[in-house]
Parts: sequence; structure tokens; C-alpha cells
Amino acid sequence: MDTVLAIDIGGTFTKIGIVDTQGKILASKVFGTKSKEPFETYLKELIPNLHQLLATLDSPTKPLAVGIGAPNANSITGHIENPPNLNWGKEIPIVKSIATALKLPVYIANDANAAALGELRFGMAKGMRNFVVLTLGTGLGSGIVVNGNLLLGEHAQAGEIGHVNVDPNGRYCNCGLRGCLETYASVTGIKRTVFELIAEMREDSPLRRISFEDLTGELIANAALDGDPLALRAFSITAEILGSKMADTVAHLDPEAFILSGGLSKAGDVLLLPVIASMEKNLFVSYKGKIKVYLSDAPRNAAILGPAALAWSNIS
Ligand code: BGC
Ligand code: NA
Ligand code: ZN
Repeated sequence: MDTVLAIDIGGTFTKIGIVDTQGKILASKVFGTKSKEPFETYLKELIPNLHQLLATLDSPTKPLAVGIGAPNANSITGHIENPPNLNWGKEIPIVKSIATALKLPVYIANDANAAALGELRFGMAKGMRNFVVLTLGTGLGSGIVVNGNLLLGEHAQAGEIGHVNVDPNGRYCNCGLRGCLETYASVTGIKRTVFELIAEMREDSPLRRISFEDLTGELIANAALDGDPLALRAFSITAEILGSKMADTVAHLDPEAFILSGGLSKAGDVLLLPVIASMEKNLFVSYKGKIKVYLSDAPRNAAILGPAALAWSNIS
């Protein structure tokens, strides 16, 4: 059977999978990225994990290619460049490292760009020609498809929407700027909002008893679904900021739809409804009521299907 090996590198988790031409995930594994440690340490964990995964299949087949989705990846050079949320240096030649270790053709794309290719080939964006995938995880990424083509830009860095400014005096971002969108609208961003609200609000909340490290988007979402005022307020602040920047993005690109994916998108309507309300409020009249917003139907799988689609699109 023909398969590809998919690697999604996130600031918090790495997801790897073996995927067939139909987007069926035959085997997969998730492990912590340990982004504070050097890249060499990461490779020493990644490569054995990839070999282990390949060995789990009943009839071991050699994959035809490897697809990688990574933050700040440059698909032209094959490097990860200046990643704010990975402490690996300025220029990481990851394609070369993995090609050498596995002796397979390796393709890389920005993680959110790969996610857009995944939605196009296997997911919510089948048949769409203009859409934007927003990945809401450790950071905020965007994959932009215009007139049927992925937008790369001059330096293969188009779509760094996570680092557009929402407040000149705002929160410090790992990229060195302040007030970046991802410091508010991402899993990390909403966690920061929760901790600010814990200091400001008087109401009790189950979130008060969780440390910053242990807090997850899912815990905040569950609290919001239980009606916890602090969690609901955190979602409404996050959605307000995100929706307004989505309206800006509409003015630039006039997409048919946004697809929200990544950890925070698992929150469902608690996120989706206030995001739509805020976007609509901020949209220029020509766009009002016309732009759809979806949640990626399988956030966890979407991460693996992105790099898988990247690999398939390069070899078939
Ligand atoms: C990076 C993007 C990436 C996003 C999601 C941002 O901090 O700059 O390249 O797509 O995080 O991982
Ligand atoms: Na991108
Ligand atoms: Zn930033």
C-alpha cells in the first residue's frame, strides 16, 4: 500500500502519522515537543519515534515521502527560521536532518499552510478556492488559499497573522514584539487571559486551582460549557480580538470561509459564536453576512493530515 509519513511540529506537541492516499491515518503518535531544549535533543526523540511508528504496521511498507508542517518553516529553503515558540536557534535545517536519517524525500511547509493543504485535500475546504485556515495552538498560524493556490509570498512567509499588532502597549510576544495577536488568540493567549481574570475577578472558578502549566484550552472550554463566568469572559475577550482581526483579513483577501483548527478550536460554539459576532460587527458592509466560519471537523487529525497532504501533493 502507498503511504506517506506526516510530521506536525507544534510548540507543545508533535504529532506523527502514517497516512494513505485517501487521508486514512493508519498509525499515529503524539509526544511532547520540549521546545525549550536544543533541536539536536528533539531529533534524538523524533527519529526513533518515526522508526517505531513505521514498525507498528502489520505489513510494513516504506512510505513514499515525508511531509512536515512546522512553525516558521520556509518551504523554499527547507529550514525553520526564527521560530518564536521553539528555542532551536534562528535557522534550523530540518529537511536535511530528516532526509539524512530516513533516506526519503522530505517536504516542509509552514504548519498552518500544511493545514490549509490538508483541509483542501481531505477536509472542510474541498472545492473551495478562497479560504483561510487559522490554527489556534501554542501560537496562531494562518494558511491562506487565494484563487485556488496557497499564498507563499516573496520569502515563503506569507500569513504571519499571529504577529500582527492588536495593542501597541499589549502583551509581550516570544517574537520580541508586543501586542501580537497570538498573545491573545491562541491556547497560550487564552491561558494568559484566564490568569489576568483570576487576579481581577472576585468570582470563584475551578480554573483558580490549576497552575499555568497544567491549564489547557480544553479545561477552559469545559469550564465555559459549565457556565463558569471567568471562563466565559476569557472566551469572549479572545473571540472579540480574534474576530476583529479576521474582519481585517477579509478586507485583504475576501475569502469564502475561515476554518478554525488547533487546540482552541475544540471548544466548539463557546469560541465559534462570539468569534462570528465580533467578525460581523467589524466587517465592511460589502462582506457582511457572506463570510463563513467553520471549525475543522477533526482538529487532532487535521494536524497530521496537513503534512500528509503536503507530501501527497508533491509526489502525485
Ligand atoms: C508562527 C507561525 C506558526 C504559528 C502556529 C506562530 O508563532 O510565527 O509560523 O504558523 O505560530 O504554529
Ligand atoms: Na502560514
Ligand atoms: Zn509576535
